[in-house]
Amino acid sequence: MPFLAVIGLGWGDEGKGKIISSLSQEFDIVVRFQGGSNAGHTVYLNDKKLIFHQIPSGIVHPEKIGIMGPNEVIDPELLLKEIEDIENTGIPVMERIYIDERCPLVLPYHKFIDELEEEKKGFLGTTRRGIGPAYSDFVARVALRICDLKNERDLNERFKISWEWNSIILGGRYGQPPPDKTGILNKLKEFFKKIEGRTIDTVKFIHENDKKNKKILIEGAQGTLLDVVFGTYPFVTSSHTTSGGASSLLGIPPYKINRVIGVLKAYTTRVGKGPFPTECRDEFGEILREKGQEYGATTRRPRRCGWLDLVSAKYSCIINGITEIALTKIDVLSGIEKIKICVGYKIGGKKIDFPPVSLYEWFMIEPIYEIFDGFELNKIYKTYDDFPENLKRILNFIEEYLEVPLRMVSFGKESAQIVYK
Ligand code: IMP
Repeated sequence: MPFLAVIGLGWGDEGKGKIISSLSQEFDIVVRFQGGSNAGHTVYLNDKKLIFHQIPSGIVHPEKIGIMGPNEVIDPELLLKEIEDIENTGIPVMERIYIDERCPLVLPYHKFIDELEEEKKGFLGTTRRGIGPAYSDFVARVALRICDLKNERDLNERFKISWEWNSIILGGRYGQPPPDKTGILNKLKEFFKKIEGRTIDTVKFIHENDKKNKKILIEGAQGTLLDVVFGTYPFVTSSHTTSGGASSLLGIPPYKINRVIGVLKAYTTRVGKGPFPTECRDEFGEILREKGQEYGATTRRPRRCGWLDLVSAKYSCIINGITEIALTKIDVLSGIEKIKICVGYKIGGKKIDFPPVSLYEWFMIEPIYEIFDGFELNKIYKTYDDFPENLKRILNFIEEYLEVPLRMVSFGKESAQIVYK
């Protein structure tokens, strides 16, 4: 069976949670391939607001299976809390999730290092969830992985390597004492007892289920502009957030992911530092933040807000091979008299239609805007044709600019507030 991936086209927070929750009803298995507790996928279900961090949000529907794939970094403490929080809303979780045995662990010292680094000058504005330090350990080949928790010898040996490495970083860079060894080890053993039986090899699991014609949805976290290679480096997360990342990090051959939905918000937001060409630093930015309730689902930080940027969105479509667009939160723009959309960049007076690579050039971008008449949304729209003409003009423009069909338009948090084109 072919696979469907849902990928963010911006700096995260595009509204992937709602799109995934609406699509996942038709799927059997939902799998995350990267990131960790830095993600915050919000889903509204029967008046309940649920926020997923490490667990794929697709499991919100009964009988779906959720997998935390091989390159998700797992924070044991926060994972147990997340399971408990969701189960407290009446949704069973533990018996429907699996964690890949390759997953690297986020340990207390990773979070501490992330925090210490953020306190330094020139910080990135991370979620302070230890994501960067955990992935650093992984590529430095000193990480502790889920499979190491399976027996005492492996755990002791691999933990010693990770602990020693991080003690050197803590002492040398921050003048801190080594972290508590026994306490962390004991908690890891307790954690493993709780998740025993829930660990798998994703490659085998997916392969076997694919053969049984089970439908598999790949759930992206963060967004393409936060990708460690293709994003606005160094103001990025530490994982591969693209559809290509999904293929390599899940062990799924690239040709099998033949449907890739790009989730794009009708305006742009960013949390943390880094370039943001269409940012509105004025009162209008605040209006967008309040109307769109743009506060971090993980950290509650106010998000920076600005106009839709089609130049970076097109770049994201190209990288991911986006086959269809899901446009979200169009209702936030309802009632605004004139709507701006960025259709080009200028750097030092020179026009460009593709984002630069260098961070310094990113900071120099002056956006070129096309201006559209506004629209009012005031009911539940059932079909695309129902939408006001001025909105349709904007939607058609986005579709033509991106050269990708627009398939879904979401205009509110309720599941009914979505139109399929
Ligand atoms: P980290 O992933 O915590 O290391 O943070 C690196 C950058 O990615 C920071 O700018 C974060 O605000 C941003 N970031 C990480 N996860 C998310 C997310 O789920 N949504 C939006 N931004 C994110």
